[in-house]
Amino acid sequence: MSTLDEIKSKIDIVDLVSEAGVKLRHAGKNYTGFCPFHDNKKTPAFVVWPETGTWRCFGQCNEGGDIFKFVMKRESIDFKEAMQKLALRAGVEIKEYTRETPEQKEAYENLRKLLEDSIIYYRSHLFNNKNIFNYLKDKRGLTESTIETFGLGYAPAGYDNFLKHFSAKGYSEQDLINSGMLSEREDGKVFDRFRNRIMIPIRDEQGRMTGFGARIVDPDDIPKFLNSPETPLFSKGRLLYGLDRARKPIRVADQAVIVEGYLDVIALHQAGYENVVSPMGTALTEDQLRLLKKYTRKIVLALDPDVAGQKAVLRGLDAARSAMDKEGELAFDARGLLRNESRLQADLRVASIPDDLDPDEIVARDKDEWKTLIENAKPIVTHVMDSLAAGQNLNDPKVKNQIAAQILPLIDDIGNPLERDTYRQALARMLKVNESALASTTARPQVMRRKPRGEETNQKIEAVVAAVNPRIKIESYCLGTLLKKPELLYRLDRKLEEFGLSPLAVEDFEYTDHQLLFGVLRLAVEQDEKEHQNYLMSHLPEALTPLANDLLSQTEKIEKTYDDKLLEDLLNRFLDLRRTHATSNVNQLRFMQEDDETQGGANIKLYQEQAMQFTRLLRSLDLAKRKIVKRQ
Ligand code: UTP
Ligand code: MN
Repeated sequence: MSTLDEIKSKIDIVDLVSEAGVKLRHAGKNYTGFCPFHDNKKTPAFVVWPETGTWRCFGQCNEGGDIFKFVMKRESIDFKEAMQKLALRAGVEIKEYTRETPEQKEAYENLRKLLEDSIIYYRSHLFNNKNIFNYLKDKRGLTESTIETFGLGYAPAGYDNFLKHFSAKGYSEQDLINSGMLSEREDGKVFDRFRNRIMIPIRDEQGRMTGFGARIVDPDDIPKFLNSPETPLFSKGRLLYGLDRARKPIRVADQAVIVEGYLDVIALHQAGYENVVSPMGTALTEDQLRLLKKYTRKIVLALDPDVAGQKAVLRGLDAARSAMDKEGELAFDARGLLRNESRLQADLRVASIPDDLDPDEIVARDKDEWKTLIENAKPIVTHVMDSLAAGQNLNDPKVKNQIAAQILPLIDDIGNPLERDTYRQALARMLKVNESALASTTARPQVMRRKPRGEETNQKIEAVVAAVNPRIKIESYCLGTLLKKPELLYRLDRKLEEFGLSPLAVEDFEYTDHQLLFGVLRLAVEQDEKEHQNYLMSHLPEALTPLANDLLSQTEKIEKTYDDKLLEDLLNRFLDLRRTHATSNVNQLRFMQEDDETQGGANIKLYQEQAMQFTRLLRSLDLAKRKIVKRQ
């Protein structure tokens, strides 16, 4: 669910409108009151539909909208401000998304340039240092071309080589600090952050430089890996190492493989497995999974079986979450991953790597072995189940109990009831117990059963939204499809025209965020200077960028659907949306006409006219529907 949908689902429009001083009274399924936006206080022309979270003034304003529009109009603020207000009210956190201002952009460009120059600098030091170069070639099996491709380098020992070199090139100390390449002592003195280390450039998804990972050369140095600090460009939790090179292969293979080490990514790419990325010594974040989800929903985690088994379950279950964020800690939290899996509708599997080897050692001993390992990846729960059972005496009731106590919380967390059942059965089979016996094992320590409170309400709300407000979903789907394939908009308009209906317009959407997004989409297809999607993304209000990304990431499936099929589907859905909208308005207007008559009939003409319009529209819609059916 997008942040905006979450806000929509958590705020009751009836509460919101009432609190704004509008006295609402029940009128069938809906509520009516005096419109707060115009001052005719004789008849109640303002209607609220709690089911869809929308409102409309059938009187003078003849305007309607959702919670956002209500607050925007009421307080004369823009969408972004309204969103912030309502997010606060709903207790929903908005992930700050700021597009670069021109000044920032220039500053970032400057930092990136500095980082690109750093690669060249470190490269020359590597090619001048036989020891290090040979270590990479002979000990790590990297070819010269791989070293070049990944831009590897060497940071010489000493405290001010980098500082001197780049100061001489004209970079200010502040630039050097901002880029993360210098460290600052407490007394303000600065020195090279990376000394006597192998340097690994880290780029973002689009291939832009962000920072470095740096591995020790001297086994006594600590830490083994040192990363750039968090800078405006480098944010560990939001980057995946290797994604710039892996994203195409991931899309082609429809699968992403996650390993733990930089050098594993490099070795696997060299071996021809290019769909591989790694996090940077932290637990896998939701942001990272989202990044991957743009390219595939099938994700395989290739992990050391010991750590991924025992330790990981324990970590997932106790509260030692903070430990996970420590640099160098292992990045596997079965429970966290499972939650993300269902929320992101991803397919997460675990491949365990045998014999205490790293992936780079596996491909070094046998290239094909990697392929087999990945093909044999198992769903998370199965994997955890198997690794907990490995080497245990499953006939021992105590062991059975222990294993059940660790796995059941994982199973309980699975959103899909069918999957949940299947795993319960599998667990029962493995432990050779009745499934009913498993149910009673649920008497396990409190900590394990408790879910974070936010999570629980979220799930509930998600279910409610799905049940009562299909409109949000349908609008989202249609909008997502159009975002993905903007060309369809023309064809859709033409179809509508054929049926004597008006082209698609913002009014086809009830929710403000959807309307705004559609507005920009319309502009995008009407210009021909830029590629549609590029235009769209660069003209979107920044508050809507996450929504657009979200919608896009949910439309992967349609990529493989034929345009004609999509078009037909969209057409039907838009006709239905128009139909529901018109029907509820006509019904409401009838009701209001009756009401108005008893009050002296001041608005009767206005209502009649509107009702006529909607009735006419309904007739055209029915006609269109019939024609479509006939053609099929
Ligand atoms: P490993 O210790 O397994 O290193 O850490 P590696 O990548 O296999 O390197 P080699 O093969 O010994 O040369 C795995 C990953 O964990 C992160 C790094 O991202 C590393 O690639 N890490 C590890 C840190 O961030 N800090 C550390 O101190 C250690
Ligand atoms: Mn390794």
